[in-house]
Amino acid sequence: MMARKSVAQVQRETATSELKRTLGKWNLLLLGVGCIIGAGIFVRTGSAAALHAGPAVLLSFVVAGIVCAFAGLCYAELSSTLPVSGSAYTYSYTTLGEFVAWIMGSLLLLEYGLAASVVAVGWGGYVVSLLGDVGLAIPPALTGASGYAIVRDGAPLVVDGTPVIGIFNLPAFLICVTLSILLVVGVSESAKVNNAIVAIKVSVIVAFIVIGGYMVLSNLPTLTAANWTPFIPEPTGKPGEFGWGGIMRAASIVFFAYIGFEAVSTAGQEAKNPQKDMPFGIIGSLVVCTVLYMLVASVMTLIVNYKGLNVPDPVAVAVDSFGPQWAWFAKLIKVGAIIGLTSVVLVLMYGQTRIFYTMARDGLLPRVFATVHPKFQTPWINTLVVGLVTACAAGFFDINTLGDMTSVGTLAAFGIVCLTVIWLRVSEPGLARGFKVPLYPVLPVLGILSCAYLITTVEWRVLMFFVWFMLGAIIVYFCFGIWNSRLQHGDDTIPAPDMGEFPAPVGHQEQ
Ligand code: ALA
Repeated sequence: MMARKSVAQVQRETATSELKRTLGKWNLLLLGVGCIIGAGIFVRTGSAAALHAGPAVLLSFVVAGIVCAFAGLCYAELSSTLPVSGSAYTYSYTTLGEFVAWIMGSLLLLEYGLAASVVAVGWGGYVVSLLGDVGLAIPPALTGASGYAIVRDGAPLVVDGTPVIGIFNLPAFLICVTLSILLVVGVSESAKVNNAIVAIKVSVIVAFIVIGGYMVLSNLPTLTAANWTPFIPEPTGKPGEFGWGGIMRAASIVFFAYIGFEAVSTAGQEAKNPQKDMPFGIIGSLVVCTVLYMLVASVMTLIVNYKGLNVPDPVAVAVDSFGPQWAWFAKLIKVGAIIGLTSVVLVLMYGQTRIFYTMARDGLLPRVFATVHPKFQTPWINTLVVGLVTACAAGFFDINTLGDMTSVGTLAAFGIVCLTVIWLRVSEPGLARGFKVPLYPVLPVLGILSCAYLITTVEWRVLMFFVWFMLGAIIVYFCFGIWNSRLQHGDDTIPAPDMGEFPAPVGHQEQ
């Protein structure tokens, strides 16, 4: 269980692709922003404000941003110390050993696979809304999670006096299946397409801030009196509903909005000057997104009372209240959100297939997950399994449950990353470190504590689901991984085809 890969072995495994050092600090920052902005701001902010924090969701963004900064600095140190490309799974395998690596792999299934489902549900919300604008309607029961009331225009949809209950979220299911098929045939987004998508996403957000900000400033006293008083709504007495408890609960929700910044750390081998540029890229993208998120949340909660924001498309709902002359802008926002969210689902699914692929090469998952299609040169069975699982999760579950599961898994993964930094400093003090976490050991310890604290704020049933998920993962390790691990049998990993033949991760190509 404690078997570790040597740094030399990991270097050998990654030697097949000699990556060029082409990414400067601004490329890294843009890469981060591109991976970060998604369903978190376009969808989940609405329910975080409506159900937990009210206008004080702004403070939740600050809390979540700080927690991510602790973890981000730890990621930066690991990526500059261990010359491996790849995810936290590989960091764990080379430091804390195989068992923790397996646990990390399971957590990443929540961070990437389940996050893809969350974003797909968010995508579905904006698609249904846009189709509704142009008079095309999907049967409402096929647009929501099983057993949950369908919401339209901020209120439960009622037909013939009965609320409509969701059966299956067809749009969210279909986008996952479609994108997994595209990934199988080897669709790779070029850096140019990726840059264009990032530009569209950011432009939509900035346009919302500018136009909405203008509206807000023209009516500031009225709007603050109506919607921001009180700024921190009185707690209802239920845990996590308003007051400071609600702000922390909402922090664990909007934490989702920051997931993706660690993509910057995976580009460690492509950075021109990792020592300076990695922390700039990671912390810079976190700061840029925190500022954008706080501005969006300010406009949203000033224009619309927070109670009306528990909808699938809160940004568009806020634009609707600008007045009928802005209907075109609401449509534009929806189109921008749909394009932006599509690329986030694609990147997350891609990341998930790559993690499974690495784990299968290590023998911890069945070898079939590393099978490469003879024609398309992609891990096709792996990709189809990921596509189907994410599609089913998106089809049946509601976005809040899925999002909370993702946040809990990611917080646990970030906590382990902080722990890895401490472990490595103690066990290998002499290792050359391109970048060191400042104020060591205070920041990594704060990282572990803050991640653990945010985990405790989620609902009990989500925590129980998480506990069962982890128990299941541990059982699978003892039934399969420990017997088949190539490291334990003294074998090297299964040789990989050149990773360059895979669809390159979005934004990792030369910019
Ligand atoms: N941060 C990404 C999003 O909000 C995962 O969609």
